[in-house]
Amino acid sequence: MESSRFAILWLFSFLVLTAQWRASSASSDDFLHCLGTNSNGLHPQAYIPKSPSYLSILQSSINNLRFASPETPKPQFIITPDHESQVQAVVVCSKKHGLNIKVRSGGHDFEGLSSTSNVPFVLVDLINLRAIDVDIKHNSAWVQAGATLGEVYYRVAEKSRVHGYPAGGCPTVGVGGHISGGGFGPMVRKYGMAADHVLDARLVNAKGEILTRETMGEDLFWAIRGGGVSSFGVLLAWKIKLVPVPPTVTVSIVTKTLEQGATELVHKWQSVASYGVPKEAFIGLHVGVVNNNATIGGVERTVQATFQVLFLGPAAKLMNVMDKSFPELGMERKDCKEMSWVESTVRFAGFPSGTPVDILLNRSSLPKTTFKAKSDFVTEPIPKGGLRGIWKRFLKEERPEMVIGVWGGKVNEIAEDKIAFPHRAGNMYLIDYVTNWDGKEGPEASKKHIGWIRELYDYMTPYVSKSPRTAFLNYKDLDLGRIGASTYSDAKIWGEMYFKGNFKKLVNVKSKVDPGNFFSGEQNIPPAITN
Ligand SMILES: Cc1cc2nc3c(=O)[nH]c(=O)nc-3n(C[C@H](O)[C@H](O)[C@H](O)COP(=O)(O)OP(=O)(O)OC[C@H]3O[C@@H](n4cnc5c(N)ncnc54)[C@H](O)[C@@H]3O)c2cc1C
Ligand SMILES: *[C@@H]1O[C@H](CO)[C@@H](O)[C@H](O)[C@H]1NC(C)=O
Ligand SMILES: *[C@@H]1O[C@H](CO)[C@@H](O)[C@H](O)[C@H]1NC(C)=O
Repeated sequence: MESSRFAILWLFSFLVLTAQWRASSASSDDFLHCLGTNSNGLHPQAYIPKSPSYLSILQSSINNLRFASPETPKPQFIITPDHESQVQAVVVCSKKHGLNIKVRSGGHDFEGLSSTSNVPFVLVDLINLRAIDVDIKHNSAWVQAGATLGEVYYRVAEKSRVHGYPAGGCPTVGVGGHISGGGFGPMVRKYGMAADHVLDARLVNAKGEILTRETMGEDLFWAIRGGGVSSFGVLLAWKIKLVPVPPTVTVSIVTKTLEQGATELVHKWQSVASYGVPKEAFIGLHVGVVNNNATIGGVERTVQATFQVLFLGPAAKLMNVMDKSFPELGMERKDCKEMSWVESTVRFAGFPSGTPVDILLNRSSLPKTTFKAKSDFVTEPIPKGGLRGIWKRFLKEERPEMVIGVWGGKVNEIAEDKIAFPHRAGNMYLIDYVTNWDGKEGPEASKKHIGWIRELYDYMTPYVSKSPRTAFLNYKDLDLGRIGASTYSDAKIWGEMYFKGNFKKLVNVKSKVDPGNFFSGEQNIPPAITN
């Protein structure tokens, strides 16, 4: 009895599964056929879940391992175009077959949004579209979306020692996501955001057409500089404007634990770094926990502040600046190292002094972790008591970090509505709170660490920007607003945190260029006010 019932059930599920498989493989053939007929004879490389290299391609650039688990929803197809027309074909065919698309450039999205989706989707991985064409004579470069920041820095430096690009400190980040979210790095005080230095762009719209600045119009061109390009199309390439850098810059890295006076120094740093030193000096700050094995060298587990200085000039000049404005740090000439700008990008990425610059071309040079992050802009100094409360929380967590970018200078001088990136005058610094853990620990560990960082975020409320409390789009955080928000009232919460007054215009642009919301996804700009 028992076994025959089991056999019937088994047969039944076998039939259902077979039928499902037939249906999905039929639509799979249709989709791939569509791609072939729309690619001008250049069929793009496509992977389906059964393809032997599907999983390794999928995981190749997922930076946050929280989204590289077996439970993470996976794409029905991965397409790796090596020609622009193939991207157009993916848009046309995904639309025709009712599939969402996720575009991946460098894969560094904090919430994994370039590699996963809650609805059936196609992953367009731009790994093969990463050509960089530097035009020193005109101080510009065309960079395809799949290029990394490290590749850009390397190719610019190959042509000139006195040209640079003001973007982020992590060389494996992709230019597709980074620049469209604003993008800041250690030259932010001198030159502003990466998105402030974009001259033109090539974008595939929801109709599958390729647009340039001229054909997309100034409003859409405004929106993709800081508004996140994933809401508006598939970005193929940026034309970036290069900036002058001196032939010799100086890097200095000084660490101080609580026992060495970190609290007083971080407190003082706040009144110096943003408004008390020239634009050429960027005194970045990293806070972490060291000595995880208690009593290494007689010191217990403690909080450590690392002051990471980039100075666009020689060491002697930096020493003058520090002696005058921040003598308490005790920086000495021997802590300073002079180098070329491109070498400074290697040091800022955390590689040891003397690491050859071709590490910038290695897309997997940095270890990956499982993490959750959140962000805040700070507009007035946090009192010492407030800082001590952060340290107390840090000491209860395994691998917490704060990565702090310093505002002031050029980034604050540009009008809030010049481009979609809005965080300008009044901001002193940007905090990226991170907690890292070992993904193998399972869901309980995730819950614990995510709970910890949410609690820290609550604690920070009185000390950070208000009405709205602002957040940085490049540090994507799905906690903001309601998760999965798709209507205007839900989106307004995170929309105003990321974009302040620019959110309204972003919604207007979206309504004009993608009224059918083909480019939809979590925390993508919604097309219209629906309630
Ligand atoms: C270790 C690390 C360090 C970082 N350091 C900095 C820093 O110093 N400064 C800073 O500003 N940010 C920094 N970031 C954040 C980083 O800039 C963002 O995560 C950025 O979005 C990453 O771009 P990507 O192309 O690598 O990401 P992806 O994950 O590929 O993309 C991010 C988002 O943009 C969309 N997208 C990507 N490419 C395209 C495209 N071509 N067309 C349409 N949509 C696209 C994706 O779908 C996704 O929604 C850092 C992130 C990490 C993980
Ligand atoms: C901590 O100590 C343990 C036991 O002595 C050792 O196995 C481990 O490698 C140490 N970890 C670090 C990070 O030093
Ligand atoms: C890139 O860096 C990683 C990590 O250091 C290393 O294992 C790998 O061999 C490097 N790849 C290349 C091509 O150099």
